[in-house]
Amino acid sequence: MKLKLGVLGSGAGSNMQSIVDAIDAGTLDAEIRIVLADVQDAKILERARRHSIPCRYLDCAPWKTKLEGRAEEDCIRILKEAGVDTVVLAGFMRIVKPGLLEAYKNRVLNIHPALLPAFPGVHSWTQALDYGCKVAGVTVHFVDAGTDTGPIIVQKAVPVLEDDTPETLHARIQVQEHVAYPEALRILASRAYRIEGRRVAISR
Ligand code: GAR
Repeated sequence: MKLKLGVLGSGAGSNMQSIVDAIDAGTLDAEIRIVLADVQDAKILERARRHSIPCRYLDCAPWKTKLEGRAEEDCIRILKEAGVDTVVLAGFMRIVKPGLLEAYKNRVLNIHPALLPAFPGVHSWTQALDYGCKVAGVTVHFVDAGTDTGPIIVQKAVPVLEDDTPETLHARIQVQEHVAYPEALRILASRAYRIEGRRVAISR
């Protein structure tokens, strides 16, 4: 079934781009109904405009790290008005609260640049490097009330190389992010999955 996506971002929007590319290539049955960014000049908005996708700045003040209160209400209203059935967090650097999770129960996805449950939070690739990991990666998961704790849909691993810097490692992870998000959305579109407690059971 065609997914009606609402994308929330704060930055460059390369993950949104990978979703747009998959839709355009005919490998993902979805449409992006709206893109919202909490940063006025975020590149993700520029990308959306370039693809003629409706987009808006979402003023989240006075909260700095959360989507809460009036901003959360605005967000839910805009998503509903746009006919969104699935919310895609794509580099959205805020913690979403129960209001959005209840409005979109088991329909909010996030991408996190680490192999969860290792390294939740920010700058996960730097955490992996500092820890001395030999493998890093990316996780796409359903969002629950915790931070980066929801049921995992897709994971991809990448090697950590001897001469990696945070930038080179993040770049290698991002290549896999752009594979992982369309793959996770294809699973949702196929409806061939069940959430069983912590586990997403996928029948392919
Ligand atoms: C991605 O690397 C994503 O995994 C990360 O932000 C980047 C956004 O890139 N998300 C988080 O760290 C969430 N905790 P993009 O704007 O180019 O898609």
